[in-house]
Amino acid sequence: MRRRCSLTDAATLNTLHSAAFGHAEAHGWRRDDFAKALEDEGHVIVATAKGYALARVLLDEAELLLIATLPNARRSGEGTALLKELFEQLAERQVARVFLEVVETNEAALALYRRHGFSVSGHRHNYYGRGAGHGAVLMEKALK
Ligand SMILES: CC(C)(COP(=O)(O)OP(=O)(O)OC[C@H]1O[C@@H](n2cnc3c(N)ncnc32)[C@H](O)[C@@H]1OP(=O)(O)O)[C@@H](O)C(=O)NCCC(=O)NCCS
Repeated sequence: MRRRCSLTDAATLNTLHSAAFGHAEAHGWRRDDFAKALEDEGHVIVATAKGYALARVLLDEAELLLIATLPNARRSGEGTALLKELFEQLAERQVARVFLEVVETNEAALALYRRHGFSVSGHRHNYYGRGAGHGAVLMEKALK
């Protein structure tokens, strides 16, 4: 596990992102956005050859923006390893609370988050503006 990606890894992250989500620009993230996040001390990124996780830190809180693993690497602990590494890095930065939003139909992500101590803090119906099944579940977790 790399502690942090180097600047030159924006292309690799973007390739991982497209492969993991099955299409380019998923969640509106392009190569330039990864390059900016890599340059910005307010973002924490962990990555391996099989996946990555990315959070934005604001004071003692962090938002988990993206986590994804390659389809052929799923259910083998990769997402768990990425989350654990991310939590360690966030704790080192004195982050006390992590929050996120997830599409309500994303069973894999919901299960992963629950398994790692996130609890539901709210719902936003039709949050993504695409009708039924596209509401958001809001979740949060305290970091020790
Ligand atoms: C969500 C995601 C990151 C999980 O990654 P992963 O590498 O499969 O995670 P792990 O192998 O560490 O799984 C840990 C636990 O999460 C839960 N889980 C993961 N995928 C699951 C699924 N498809 N169905 C039910 N539970 C699931 C299980 O409890 C699993 O433990 P188990 O395999 O011992 O039962 C992966 O499915 C993914 O990349 N999805 C597409 C991108 C995405 O939607 N990201 C989230 C929004 S940004």
